[in-house]
Amino acid sequence: MHLIETVNLSHAYRDSVRALDSVNFVAPRNLRIAVIGPNGAGKSTLFRHLNGVLMAQSGQVLIRGEPITKKNLKEVRKFIGVVFQNPDDQIFAPTVEQDVAFGPTNLGLDETTVMHRVDEALGLLDIEYLRHRAPHHLSGGEKKRVAIAGVLAMEPGVLVMDEPTAGLDPRGRDDLVRFVNSLWNQYGMTVIFSTHELDLVTRMADYVYVMDQGRILVQGTVPEVFEQEELLQRIRLDLPVIPKLCRSLRRRGAVIPVAYTLEEAENALAAALALRPRP
Ligand SMILES: Nc1ncnc2c1ncn2[C@@H]1O[C@H](COP(=O)(O)OP(=O)(O)O)[C@@H](O)[C@H]1O
Ligand SMILES: [Mg+2]
Repeated sequence: MHLIETVNLSHAYRDSVRALDSVNFVAPRNLRIAVIGPNGAGKSTLFRHLNGVLMAQSGQVLIRGEPITKKNLKEVRKFIGVVFQNPDDQIFAPTVEQDVAFGPTNLGLDETTVMHRVDEALGLLDIEYLRHRAPHHLSGGEKKRVAIAGVLAMEPGVLVMDEPTAGLDPRGRDDLVRFVNSLWNQYGMTVIFSTHELDLVTRMADYVYVMDQGRILVQGTVPEVFEQEELLQRIRLDLPVIPKLCRSLRRRGAVIPVAYTLEEAENALAAALALRPRP
């Protein structure tokens, strides 16, 4: 049984074209899953279905094998933590501490447990120092961390993030990558995120869904998906820099594999250039 599965999920907003068209999306346990696609592809609409912000009009959303209903909605939201694109939609308490405490308090946990969860979440995101600050005066990156901490304090089984790097500077982006990878490494957390920044995918995903116009065009491992350069170009997605460089060197006769991470690229080039091993 999958943690999340959508079966022929379709959605049309009022008088709009189909935002989702028969989407079959599966999230196996312990993977980092990227959903990529141009603006308007349907990524956010899909994510809104994963914790019942939108209910399936046609098709089904199964969470641990069960369709989402009004009755199990609370349970579903406890299990699937969604961080929406704009932290301002998610943060509303007067202080960071209160904001992060909101979710666990709502779950009916006692005050000691709530405070313990808040401490843990603030620690994980490295934002202890923001505890007593007013969220609305924080920077974009800080707000994003507060929103993520609020979701993690509910100890979800799956962390879903819609465009998590939107509004982050390069440093904020690096921090996010490091943090997500360590959640996945240390806790085996299942992570699902959307992005149109493909470099993020090579750094932070195991499996990729490509969406366009409400449909899933392809899915597969990072190499399987990025092999399909023409298809990605057709929907105006550019290859990440590293495989792009490897491919163009290969076209010019270089005998190197297509690398996806910086480390793979360094090793491939070092071998091709017959460099001595690192001291
Ligand atoms: N609240 C809404 N009301 C009407 N149409 C919407 C709404 N949200 C999204 N859409 C439309 O649905 C389609 C998919 O949008 P969205 O899921 O936001 O895509 P993405 O997140 O991939 O950019 C687009 O055509 C968009 O204009
Ligand atoms: Mg979106």
